[in-house]
Amino acid sequence: MRKGKIFLVGFGPGAEAHMSVRALQAIEEADVVVGYSTYIRLVKHLLDGKEVTRKGMTEEIDRCILAYEKAREGKTVALVSSGDIGVYGMAGPTYEVLLQSGWTPDSDIEVEVVPGSTALSACAALVGAPLTHDFCSISLSDLLTPWPVIAKRLEAAARSDFVVALYNPKSGRRTGQIVEAQRILLRHRKPDTPVAIVKSAYRDLQDIQMVRLDEMKDCKIGMLTTVLIGNSSTYLHEGLMITPRGYHNKYEGLTGATREGEKRGRSLSMGLEGWKTCVREYLDTHPGAPLQQAARYFDCRIGEVLAAIAGNGGAGGLAARMLPKATLLAAARDWRKLRLGVENGSGAQAEVMLQGGDLELSGDSLKLGNAHVRLRIDWPHVQSACLLRSEDRAGAYFLDAHGDTVFSLYLQDADDLPRFDQTWQALAGQDAMAATA
Ligand SMILES: C[S@@+](CC[C@H](N)C(=O)[O-])C[C@H]1O[C@@H](n2cnc3c(N)ncnc32)[C@H](O)[C@@H]1O
Repeated sequence: MRKGKIFLVGFGPGAEAHMSVRALQAIEEADVVVGYSTYIRLVKHLLDGKEVTRKGMTEEIDRCILAYEKAREGKTVALVSSGDIGVYGMAGPTYEVLLQSGWTPDSDIEVEVVPGSTALSACAALVGAPLTHDFCSISLSDLLTPWPVIAKRLEAAARSDFVVALYNPKSGRRTGQIVEAQRILLRHRKPDTPVAIVKSAYRDLQDIQMVRLDEMKDCKIGMLTTVLIGNSSTYLHEGLMITPRGYHNKYEGLTGATREGEKRGRSLSMGLEGWKTCVREYLDTHPGAPLQQAARYFDCRIGEVLAAIAGNGGAGGLAARMLPKATLLAAARDWRKLRLGVENGSGAQAEVMLQGGDLELSGDSLKLGNAHVRLRIDWPHVQSACLLRSEDRAGAYFLDAHGDTVFSLYLQDADDLPRFDQTWQALAGQDAMAATA
């Protein structure tokens, strides 16, 4: 018997001109073509003489099973999907069905995935160049994905300044998701952030709306729409939506001389190595500024600011030393009057006056308390610690795995500084093994 084969074909946004040669060959070679009815309609001119099976929207797994059954009969099957079949498409479910049925890649039935141009690149091409920098795609369909997962991804993408492509933004029944997405994005993006709403790209009913983020939810959006939301540097010019590649960070204009401090072909001065120097320069030029101010300026964690100070003999009159957390806690128990600072991550801050002896580790709990106050800190949550010394102040930060402050301790009494400096000297040399112990 002839060996069966399954082509998983992404045929691009719609028009044949945007179909790959391999996609055309795959459909040409197929005895059987299986697909959602809309997709079959888009390639119907290629289907003469073939066995064609149209399935409805909710019959995705049926399509996979059918493709496998036909392949087992020795037929060549093309399971077709618009865009890229691996992007919110049938490639994943088909492999899952096959693997659950005992199929393996070296079995008799060959599977070939034929990539296609996905909606986000097709839509981007129609509106300019909105994806020229980091971007991500998020589907707003909560048919198979819990909304809290989608909301978390929207929040992370918005906060991280990704250009965002929204697939499945709205349907007849799912109308609230785009409203909620706009609300989340506006927490981090300006209201006039450019948004492209592209319907039926490269199909007969193609339609494009260029709007602002705060107008998005009221626009005409449907099942065949992809929404592209710019990042903080995306702009509209002459009707085109452009996200800069970043040349302006290094050059005067696109082709001009390099900016001061930058070198052609080298990482930016704010690159992996250089950015810590920039943190130190910031602290040098803002003496006395709170560390939180520097962290906000660089949009980084306090832990990264402390590491920048510790890494190069200090900055802005501050010296820092990263240490194992247990070592630093043991040392702090010998200090006298302390100001403990804790934050809850939502802006609430508490300050409590303690003595070093009020810190007590009991199992996984660090208990901080006296007759007036009791606090408990989940000690495993603390990942690293850092001593910090300026000319007239001294203290310690205890940080979580992200480099956020779990709590800080500052000496209250200048008379205690010599005691602190003894700790500083005694712990010299332990820095290297600091981060996790
Ligand atoms: C189930 S997903 C399939 C995505 C497809 N596999 C791809 O790679 O483009 C369906 C969503 O893709 C987007 N989409 C697909 N084709 C499109 C087109 N021609 N124009 C605009 N959006 C499209 C829409 O967001 C739609 O809701």
